[in-house]
Amino acid sequence: PSTSTETDIYHPSLYETAMPWERYARLRADDPVHRHAEPGGPGFWAVMRHADIQHVSRHPEVFSSHAGGVMVPDASEEQLSRNRLMMLFQDPPEHTATRAVVNRGFTPRMIGKLEEHIRQICHELVDAALARDSVDFIADIAAPLPLYVICELLGAPAEDRERIFAWSNAMIGADDPDFATQDTAPIFELLAYASALGARRREEPRDDIVSKLVAPAEDGSSMDDLALGVFVVLLAVAGNETTRNAASGGLQAFFDHPDQWRRLLEDRSLLRTLPDEVIRWVSPVITMRRTTLTETELGGRTIPAGEKVVLYYPSGNRDTAVFPDADVFDIGRDPNPHVGFGGGGPHFCLGAHLARMEVRVLFEVLAERTPGIAPAGTARRLRSNFVNSIKEMPVRLRL
Ligand code: HEM
Repeated sequence: PSTSTETDIYHPSLYETAMPWERYARLRADDPVHRHAEPGGPGFWAVMRHADIQHVSRHPEVFSSHAGGVMVPDASEEQLSRNRLMMLFQDPPEHTATRAVVNRGFTPRMIGKLEEHIRQICHELVDAALARDSVDFIADIAAPLPLYVICELLGAPAEDRERIFAWSNAMIGADDPDFATQDTAPIFELLAYASALGARRREEPRDDIVSKLVAPAEDGSSMDDLALGVFVVLLAVAGNETTRNAASGGLQAFFDHPDQWRRLLEDRSLLRTLPDEVIRWVSPVITMRRTTLTETELGGRTIPAGEKVVLYYPSGNRDTAVFPDADVFDIGRDPNPHVGFGGGGPHFCLGAHLARMEVRVLFEVLAERTPGIAPAGTARRLRSNFVNSIKEMPVRLRL
């Protein structure tokens, strides 16, 4: 199969200046399940429509996360067997068992308890930023926020934040030359750190998620140190850059749509629906991949067994079959069945409630403390076809 330059949606440089929204729209209309030639790779099927993204996500018995991994580029067998310790790379029934253990710690009560901490973190970050002459919204607010929240979630002491921050950042091996890393050392350091934290909480439990996870359940099972370490690594990977991109992409959306910012300043009840619209609009994660276990039909195409199938969440989130006014940023949108957290099914984002809360509280605090926030220079995007990310965003907090 050949890919014309008109319909290429894979090359990272395409994403350097803006998301390729027109290409997505053209493919949704003309070729919604599209055989895409991946330069230097075996190629993949790109899934562009909302309904097909949901279908794939909800049929793990056909579309496996375990078989080939969830990233478009193939991992080595060694990487893949390490990745498969994480639930993101597992299929039911193995995935069901891992996720059930984790769900014990990720209850609405445990997550809800974090709201005041999140508010306090947002105020601290804004205080520090207000004291500076120039502010980079990414480095000063969007990046530290989710990281500090994960530290709270783990019950890690504040003095460990910077270490955890450094390890997590080093693990984000994005395609961009400014950020790329092949170094696996930080993964193992974080793993060891989390295992030790688990051992301490097993001895002296507290009212935090780690203590819940390592404590024996009614059936006697509990997470061992390695499983906890692996889970914390997954949280650091899955919960950081995603939320950072939702925050920065959300602020950019307000800069591009000042009417919506004024609307929020006048009516804070919109904070209820704002997070999902920000996540629909930004689509912080661009793709997840599955591998077909059997031949199957999708969008009128027959896909053989053993093929890569790639879900384009941003495209699904602009699908006019579901959102008639898909290209309108409307913070009051309700209902909002976007696929930014995945298309449903077993892998639906574990952190969705937490991420929504972080986005809600951040914009609540910005509306209260920095109503005149404005761009102070050109934002720079990350050159990545995996996450929709801004890497530098100069802002002015005061009028
Ligand atoms: C899975 C998006 C924040 C933890 C996922 C998936 C997506 C996603 C697309 C894959 C769904 C699938 O394959 O069907 C996002 C976005 C976020 C966000 C857009 C922020 C706006 C978070 C946070 C955490 C988190 C804050 C935790 C602290 C996870 C985990 C998984 C996951 C553990 C794997 C779930 C599984 O395999 O069962 N997320 N996420 N995410 N997310 Fe998030």
